[in-house]
Parts: sequence; C-alpha cells; structure tokens
Amino acid sequence: KRTRKYFIAANWKSNGTTHFVKDIITNMINSFEYDAGKLDLMLLPGLLHISLAQAMVAPHVQVGAQNVSQHGQGAYTGEVAAEHLADYGIQWVLIGHSQRRGVFQESQEVVAEKVKKSRENGLGVILCLGENLEQREKELTGQVLDDQLTSFHTALGGNWENVVLAYEPIWAMGTGRIASADQTQEAHEHIRKWLSKTVSPALGEAMRIIYAGSVTETNCENLIKLSQVDGFLVGTSSTKPAFRDIFETVQ
Ligand code: G3P
Repeated sequence: KRTRKYFIAANWKSNGTTHFVKDIITNMINSFEYDAGKLDLMLLPGLLHISLAQAMVAPHVQVGAQNVSQHGQGAYTGEVAAEHLADYGIQWVLIGHSQRRGVFQESQEVVAEKVKKSRENGLGVILCLGENLEQREKELTGQVLDDQLTSFHTALGGNWENVVLAYEPIWAMGTGRIASADQTQEAHEHIRKWLSKTVSPALGEAMRIIYAGSVTETNCENLIKLSQVDGFLVGTSSTKPAFRDIFETVQ
C-alpha cells in the first residue's frame, strides 16, 4: 500500500510567454481535480513568470523556482538570491538540474552551495541526481548516486525535511532513449537504500523520489506503477496538452 504522497512538478524550463502562462493555468492546471492530501502539484515557471503564476493558480497548486544563486544577496549582478525567493513567498526551489550541471557547468560543489543557501532561507528543495551515459555504461551509477547523496547530506546538515529527490538518468533525456522500468526502479531503490542506511529507515521510507527522464503520456502509466516511483519531474511534456494525461495517471 502506498504511504507516500505523490509529487508531480512541471518544469517549464525557459519556455512560455505571459499568454502561455495565463492559458495553461486557466485552461489546464486550475481545472485539475485532486486530493491535495494525496498529491503535491508544483509548477516551476521561468523566473519572470513566477509572480503571474502565483497570482493565478488555485490554492492547492504550489509554485517553485527552477534555480537559485549559490551566493547570498549582494554584489552578484544578474543572480537570484535565496533570500529573494523566500521574500517573494516562493517556498520551493529546484537544484542541480541536469541542464544546470551540463549546459551551465554547475559542479556538485556549486550545487551543494545552492542547497545550503536555500536551507538557510527555509526553502524546500527538489534535488536532482543521476548519471550520464558513460557512467551508466561503466556501471558507475551506484557510485555516482552515492557521491551526490553524500554531498546533499552534508549541505543539508543532515536535515532532510522538505526535500524531494528527482532521479534524472541524463542519458535518457531528450535523447530518444528511455530508461527501462527496471533501470528506474533499481536506481530509485538504490537511493532509498542509501537514505535508510545513512540517515534512517524512516527517512528511506518517507522520501519522495520522483522520476525525471522525458516522461510522456505514453510512458507515464508504466512508470507510476513502480513501487519506487513517487511522481514525476516533467519537462517538455509539461507545457503541452499531454500534461493533463500525465497528471491523471498520478492519482
Ligand atoms: O526537468 C525535467 C527534466 O528532468 C526532463 O526533461 O523534457 O526530458 O521531460 P524532459
């Protein structure tokens, strides 16, 4: 019997206009009917769209940020400080996304600094972790996940409250390749075992581990059936009508 609340996040990446935001919230997101006691739904708009989304979403829909600076507020031109997200009433932030790590060359050390700054400001964090193709092919996935979890544990100061983990098999994102159900289940199980062993069995049991690798309306049904999958971090499909189909499988 499932004990963990589902968690589904829509990562719009750097897509969308104000018209898109108004349209998708009015005609899709706010029409979703679900038990907020059983499912957390969170939008992750581009930064400029956050306040518009906050103003429009139905009460139970949460709005988070896709990124945050590893620096506090100050002389960091162009950066967005965790203090400012908190000040704006944003309670969650996505950290360590594969595109931040890949396209923007964020190291695990920078990711850890972002976690620290977010926690100093009371933010919930969706922490992304996962391996690339070379690491998968060299069977280093377990080691990569352990190293990332260890770094998160240190940055969190051992306090795993208000954390959701998003497993991103980088080699199965936007590549046309998809992780098999077994590979997904196995990776999530590895993460959960690490938490149970290193932190506590209770945390291992309670932690939501969501899947983030090109979730679509065709693969979501098989994925959500997996006992180790507690929801999705949806990218490309979250800006399309398909998001309704994906959402409806997470019930
Ligand atoms: O943030 C979503 C990302 O992890 C996967 O993106 O476009 O493959 O769903 P996408």
